[in-house]
Amino acid sequence: MPTLRTIPAIRILLTGSTGQVGFELLSRLKSLGEVFALPRLELDLSHEDSIRAAVRSHQPHLIVNAAAYTAVDRAESDLDPAMQVNGTAPGILAEEARRHRAILVHYSTDYVFDGLKNSPYVETDTTAPINQYGKSKLAGEEKIMRAGGAYFILRTSWVYAPRGSNFLLKMLQLGSERESLRVVNDQIGSPTSASVVANATMAVLQRCGEFEQARLLSGIYHASCGGQTSWFDFARAIFGEVRELRMPGLKVREVVPISSNEFPSSCQRPLYSVLSCEKIAQTFSFRPPNWQDELPQVIREVP
Ligand SMILES: NC(=O)c1ccc[n+]([C@@H]2O[C@H](COP(=O)([O-])OP(=O)(O)OC[C@H]3O[C@@H](n4cnc5c(N)ncnc54)[C@H](OP(=O)(O)O)[C@@H]3O)[C@@H](O)[C@H]2O)c1
Repeated sequence: MPTLRTIPAIRILLTGSTGQVGFELLSRLKSLGEVFALPRLELDLSHEDSIRAAVRSHQPHLIVNAAAYTAVDRAESDLDPAMQVNGTAPGILAEEARRHRAILVHYSTDYVFDGLKNSPYVETDTTAPINQYGKSKLAGEEKIMRAGGAYFILRTSWVYAPRGSNFLLKMLQLGSERESLRVVNDQIGSPTSASVVANATMAVLQRCGEFEQARLLSGIYHASCGGQTSWFDFARAIFGEVRELRMPGLKVREVVPISSNEFPSSCQRPLYSVLSCEKIAQTFSFRPPNWQDELPQVIREVP
């Protein structure tokens, strides 16, 4: 099967390169072709004209949309901007992608599920988001699928990295300021490094073929790290690793488990959102590492 690499001078349009996943993608995508990593000023997902103009002027073979409205709590009161960026913009990108016979890679979330299952969610499970962020991301998925082009929607979960805004960095900050921390113990998921999401993307792109073949493999794929944990146990693993690595400045002595109800938050989050990654393993031979194996590597990269 011809792969994307067989296209001479492949042009790649990347959004969100200042974000966790986008940053990891940037260096990897350069191995496939010329990357146009457009900042918000040059491609603003809040503006239809900006999206269409950017795609038309760069004429990409591949569009990777790592940009999103990711402030889960803020999305509850900031409905229109969240829906515009997560729900509407992906559909416009997908229309433009189809028009240019470009493959679209997009990211979605475990928060499209209600969290009432107690075994890993597969791609065909019923979606029923319980917060506005999840609803906006689901709307984006649906618009992309309706556009009928060649697309890969990678749903991932609990993303963290050595940079950006994430649970790992929040814990490191709070752990250096306080002796005691209260962390939610009744939400179960799979912490996933941005690097693993980028690796999953590359595995898909290296095997997906060109537009018409990619169309046949198009769909939703779950791509998160293996294993599962609670935020509480994730926090304890972070501090355990920091001690192991003898990183200076850790003040925290105890981590206290609390329920979601005891934690001030403006929205509900699914209690269980582990994703089964069998489909991406079977289709693209991508087997993500377990979250415990990934964590030490990411912590070592924290500046
Ligand atoms: N973070 C998680 O825990 C998590 C979990 C599951 C799924 N996901 C999904 O994974 C993907 C990547 O998430 P991430 O954590 O890497 O995101 P992130 O670190 O929050 O970065 C978001 C990126 O989106 C850009 N952006 C926001 N609004 C924009 C707009 N109107 N126009 C253009 N760019 C805009 C930001 O640019 P600026 O620098 O200009 O702000 C930034 O580069 C997203 O689709 C997200 O929904 C994330």
